[in-house]
Amino acid sequence: MAGTSDIASNGANNGTGALGRVVLASNNAGKLREFAALLAAAGIELVPQGTLNVPEAEEPHATFVENALAKARHASKLTGLPAIADDSGLCVRALRGAPGVYSARYAQLAGGEKSDAANNALLVQNLKDQADRRAYYYCVLALVRHADDPEPLIAEGRWHGEVIDAPRGDHGFGYDPYFYIPGLEATAAELDPALKNASSHRAIALRHLLARLEEEA
Ligand code: IMP
Repeated sequence: MAGTSDIASNGANNGTGALGRVVLASNNAGKLREFAALLAAAGIELVPQGTLNVPEAEEPHATFVENALAKARHASKLTGLPAIADDSGLCVRALRGAPGVYSARYAQLAGGEKSDAANNALLVQNLKDQADRRAYYYCVLALVRHADDPEPLIAEGRWHGEVIDAPRGDHGFGYDPYFYIPGLEATAAELDPALKNASSHRAIALRHLLARLEEEA
């Protein structure tokens, strides 16, 4: 089991590869692929928490960063390894940041069902007659070197776009068919998945995290 001393001694040798094996506090196969590819370049071997029998952590907080940190600490505590967690959602300007941290449960919290279709229907309904359609996907990543790490690495990513009234595209998930990116003249669901993965809030946050790791090397 890797403890802080292992991490410190590795760190003296190989810079951004110092962390070695890192638990990903998610079992989402898509995220694992996206994150593993970029983090491999920094010498990090990412292990999904499910393979280490870590159950999903609660996400009880009102901010993305608190939820990401709670998930990372939980995974690190149960494995003794460094851990990375993300938390993300869609923030809509005219709705004062909603659905935000509650993106996955937006309709459910309003008494509806927990589904992408219900979330999107509510979003479109709540933006009815609203001229300001600006929105962004937000992602925060938290990396802890050990469960009580007092200096977690935190990185953010924002992917700007606007919410449209009718769905377009078949790829992606969640709010993607309604999230239009003017610069790409497409919704996130119309993008080739590889292009989405390279442009998204998660990709931006991950690049920032890698820069932070390089600074530390
Ligand atoms: P999580 O943090 O990855 O669990 O995402 C929380 C929720 O935010 C998801 O259930 C979606 O509703 C929304 N969300 C986050 N990222 C995306 C994305 O890339 N596309 C569509 N919806 C997203």
